[in-house]
Amino acid sequence: MDITVIGAGYVGTTTAVALAKNGNRVILVDNNKEKIEKLNRSCLPFFEEGIEEALLLLKSKGDLSFTTELSKSIEVCDLLFITVGTPSQDDGKVDLTFVKEVSRTIGKGMNRYKTIVVKSTVPVGTGDVITEIIQEELNKRKVGISFDIVSNPEFLREGKALYDALNPERVVVGIGSEKAKKVMEELYSKYHSVLLFTTVKNAEMIKYASNAYLAMKISYMNELARLSEKVGTNILEVAKGMGMDSRIGPQFLQAGIGYGGSCFPKDIKALTVLGHEQDSPLQILKAVAEVNESQIDWFIDKLINKLGSLTHKRIAVLGLTFKPQTDDIREASSIKVIQKLLQNDSIVTAYDPKGTEYMKKVFSEVLYTSEPIEAVRKADAILVLTEWKEVVELDWKTVKGLVNQPYIMDGRNALNPVYIRSLGFHYSGVGIPA
Ligand code: UGA
Repeated sequence: MDITVIGAGYVGTTTAVALAKNGNRVILVDNNKEKIEKLNRSCLPFFEEGIEEALLLLKSKGDLSFTTELSKSIEVCDLLFITVGTPSQDDGKVDLTFVKEVSRTIGKGMNRYKTIVVKSTVPVGTGDVITEIIQEELNKRKVGISFDIVSNPEFLREGKALYDALNPERVVVGIGSEKAKKVMEELYSKYHSVLLFTTVKNAEMIKYASNAYLAMKISYMNELARLSEKVGTNILEVAKGMGMDSRIGPQFLQAGIGYGGSCFPKDIKALTVLGHEQDSPLQILKAVAEVNESQIDWFIDKLINKLGSLTHKRIAVLGLTFKPQTDDIREASSIKVIQKLLQNDSIVTAYDPKGTEYMKKVFSEVLYTSEPIEAVRKADAILVLTEWKEVVELDWKTVKGLVNQPYIMDGRNALNPVYIRSLGFHYSGVGIPA
């Protein structure tokens, strides 16, 4: 099929690569010239393993191309994918400006029947909004072209984006016509995934409901971890025992310093706002967000308890990105931790294999190092905030010889407490007995 993907962000670029890999001819469009120039040089605007190589190959075969010309790209395709950003407004509502702009351009440029697939995360009811805008433009042009809107939310994880896009556990497809169903069945015929056909609105809700549910699991474990420290239970064992019940499942039970990233915090806000607007509040989600926020305070309070005070203490932060295998620092817990350290007049050193360049723009006063071993030199405490392999597999024996005080606060329960303690460190995890 000839497919145009609109919006060369994380989801758009990965989707375009996955669709091209599965035998389609794909054009990826973005109005950001710099981004398109980069992609034309086969450079990814973000770090994600495996995509750059795939992109280079698909480009050379002519299966994938990049452009800023949206109108032309609309004309030549059978299917349009909308993958533009849907950021949060100050009140938590979703900003649909880009989705609306793109819909208008589609209405203005549509020359024959198209299936329009929405992959951006959008609030329930957005499918109707897009339909209205496109129809309005078609009416202005006095043309009777038909089209279908499909909601096909994306469930890929950063760090595993291409794998997830090629091997989705399930594909949710919200449709309103048999014609659209056939198109989507053909599109996904090469995937070995279960397809769930439902209404557009249901599909829109499934995306938010899934992300919020995963975040809920994390916040629950984080609160249990705090209680575990009080009553002497080990959250790792508790999670293991819980996860063995197939009704619960073992994933997303890892306690830590909270969830971050461009999705969970934003989507929880959006779903909470929707609940309020509809006078059907989601009280659980309010608690989920509050626990996530207070997890940082709890972590910093523990550090203060250990060191007495943070003033003029040298604190080494290992890991800045919101999770490993990405350069993304959006809503990363490290930002809130560093903010608090600086407010307490600590001297902050930091290491991250991928996220340093972005973090420099947030905190210029932090001393960034290109090697973890440099960050820990003379440290009064080491904070592990992202479970990067480069951090977990550090030569901790050597580290012990370099620090000023042997305190390690492991915000991801990524290190082996028995080994670390055997080296003479005071190790403190999240929900692990002292
Ligand atoms: C999340 C979802 O997992 C994807 O399915 C979804 O497509 C995506 O959002 C999106 O909406 O685009 P992602 O944000 O890439 O994916 O990252 P996750 O792997 O879900 O991790 C999110 C955060 O939760 C990270 O900060 C991670 O450290 C934290 N986390 C995760 C925990 O603290 N504990 C866990 O057990 C799991």
